Amino acid sequence: MSPPPLPPRVAVYPGSFDPITRGHEDLVRRAFTFADKVVVAVAVNVAKQPLFTLDERVALIKQAITEPRLEVRAFDGLLAEFARMVGASVIVRGLRAVSDFEYEFQMALMNRNLAPGVETVFLVPAFDLTYLSSSLVREVARFGGDVSQLVHPAVRQALKQKFGR
Ligand code: PNS
Repeated sequence: MSPPPLPPRVAVYPGSFDPITRGHEDLVRRAFTFADKVVVAVAVNVAKQPLFTLDERVALIKQAITEPRLEVRAFDGLLAEFARMVGASVIVRGLRAVSDFEYEFQMALMNRNLAPGVETVFLVPAFDLTYLSSSLVREVARFGGDVSQLVHPAVRQALKQKFGR
């Protein structure tokens, strides 16, 4: 008799995604090397006033990554609760530089405390995307710089509209 099939491995990739960049897209692709399903979890309550509304951030992610095993959802409240609710066993976060480490380490420990069955996994982005962040993209776009290498064309278009350039 064959063993029962394993349950699908669900990974949650949380963030502000204001907006999604090629770096985020790269991490989602990497997450699929060990996850059957990736849930991109877009934080409703972003500490700083976001440039894009929640609906815009969700819509841009769906345009940038068309993959049937991907789900994009907004979440409010604790990430650990959300991870449990969607049946995730893994939280994915990107580590770009040493400066990311302290905050990420604290968050991983707190999330483990809140949801002991959920492991945080840190992924390293592609070398040429290491310097990339949503805040840099927003700043470059705000002053009319070229972001075409940094974001999906739909995001570039949305930035153009936001800044009227
Ligand atoms: O892209 P960001 O802004 O670095 O993402 C941070 C985010 C949204 C993942 C983090 O702030 C978060 O998980 N917020 C939800 C509230 C929560 O669970 N806070 C405790 C984490 S220890």
